[in-house]
Amino acid sequence: MRITTKDRSAKLTKTDLIAVLATEGDRPELPEGHEIPKGIWDDFQGRFRQAMIQSTSAGTTPRVLLLGLGKEDELDLERLRRIGALAAKASEGRKLGKISMIVPAALEEALGAGEVAAALAEGLVMGSYNYDDARGKKPDRHLKAATLIGGGAAFKKGAAHGVATAEGNAHARDLQNAPANRMTPRLLAKDAQALAKRSPRITAKVMDEAAMKRMGMGALLGVSLGSAEPARLIHLTYKPAKKKRGAKKVALVGKGLTFDAGGISIKPAGKMWDMKYDMSGGAAVLGVFHALADLDIPHEVHGVVPASENLLGAAAQRPSDVVTAMNGKTIEVLNTDAEGRLILADALCYTVDKIKPDTIVDLATLTGAVIVALGHELSGMFASSEALESGLRAAGDHVGEPVWPLPLLDIHKEQMKGTISDLKNINDGGLGNGSTAGAAFLSNFVGDTEWCHLDIAGTAWGTRNRDWVGGSLGSGVGTRLLVRWLEQLGS
Ligand code: BES
Ligand code: ZN
Ligand code: ZN
Repeated sequence: MRITTKDRSAKLTKTDLIAVLATEGDRPELPEGHEIPKGIWDDFQGRFRQAMIQSTSAGTTPRVLLLGLGKEDELDLERLRRIGALAAKASEGRKLGKISMIVPAALEEALGAGEVAAALAEGLVMGSYNYDDARGKKPDRHLKAATLIGGGAAFKKGAAHGVATAEGNAHARDLQNAPANRMTPRLLAKDAQALAKRSPRITAKVMDEAAMKRMGMGALLGVSLGSAEPARLIHLTYKPAKKKRGAKKVALVGKGLTFDAGGISIKPAGKMWDMKYDMSGGAAVLGVFHALADLDIPHEVHGVVPASENLLGAAAQRPSDVVTAMNGKTIEVLNTDAEGRLILADALCYTVDKIKPDTIVDLATLTGAVIVALGHELSGMFASSEALESGLRAAGDHVGEPVWPLPLLDIHKEQMKGTISDLKNINDGGLGNGSTAGAAFLSNFVGDTEWCHLDIAGTAWGTRNRDWVGGSLGSGVGTRLLVRWLEQLGS
């Protein structure tokens, strides 16, 4: 969808629908020349998400959509995203192609013109998201253009920003929603290479199994042994246009397990299909690079995605196998279904050794246990510094992708010591703390680098419907969170 902005003082042009936003008790003036029956205001109170379409007797549009923002003191960016999404859905439902939205000046004063425009643009774009690639005949999608009517340069910039982050989110969702036979490690790597073509500031390097073998990535390669699909290691690099003082080098590492059958420690059949989403961490990282091409972030950003498939072929690794990671540590694979941490182990070693970043953030659909702990609306967070923890938490709250801190103590790291090897990939049965065990395992591969592990197993799909995201299919969680965090980094 094309999103443009227009100044409040400019003349309205012809459009299929004008959306008018109103807080509770407010009766906004319609643009001059547009009339709706006065009695409407008895039925429309401006309750949050209340929506009413009215025909107009004259003016530039045949219909007005009244949209309730709710109570003035409860307004926030999340509500605006939802309102943007509702406007898009209402328009699409009526097969309309072009809409305008009048943004009250009071809203800009309360939340900032740039933020308001960004949230509404995000809502419009993300609320229009559909996954049509797997349909034999692609359904017609009607809504092509939306104009946000507000004020000033910040408003215009905000709208463009909202489009960039929303499209990053949509890109991540496309990767997630693709079925596993159409999103193999090689295809994920191909997508990364295509992303690099979107900007001269982004480059992509894809390593094959031979290259990984040379680097000693026994943990990653072990996971792929049961699959006919070869593994890939994706490394994207974004270099800012101008080098700014205080700029950081950041690495984002995402689990790219394109299908997780569990391996020999096979998963139950029910809902196994959900495991096509086990590459959601990698999708989030690629989504960030989609957005980076359209934004102006001052930091050097690396994206590392180990891509692999966990199946049960004749060559599959067995419970009890010992593999050696790139940093020389040996790992007893006691459960082949705890494979995310194995591919991440080598990806983290690679990141520390070859990239040497100031900070690493990894994202992974790592444990079912995090869903027990936090459900589907919050991602689990294990941060090695308070600055990183508070920065990510603030970013998550801002974009509506909240993260919540979970504990990682030395005693948890003790649990991961192997019996005949340095490490084992699961803690002893009955100990619980499954998500922490995963994080404790990963901590062996980051050295002293500032690091945060985000467990997105609960939030990558299956979240509550919030109009712009949720319900069925992937959520694209992580992309907008990381973009926001990168933008606030060092400020
Ligand atoms: N990909 C799964 C984690 C997962 C499970 C994500 C359910 C989303 C929903 C991961 O590879 C896995 O299987 N983890 C195991 C670890 C266990 C064997 C220690 C799990 O959570 O059961
Ligand atoms: Zn698994
Ligand atoms: Zn997995």
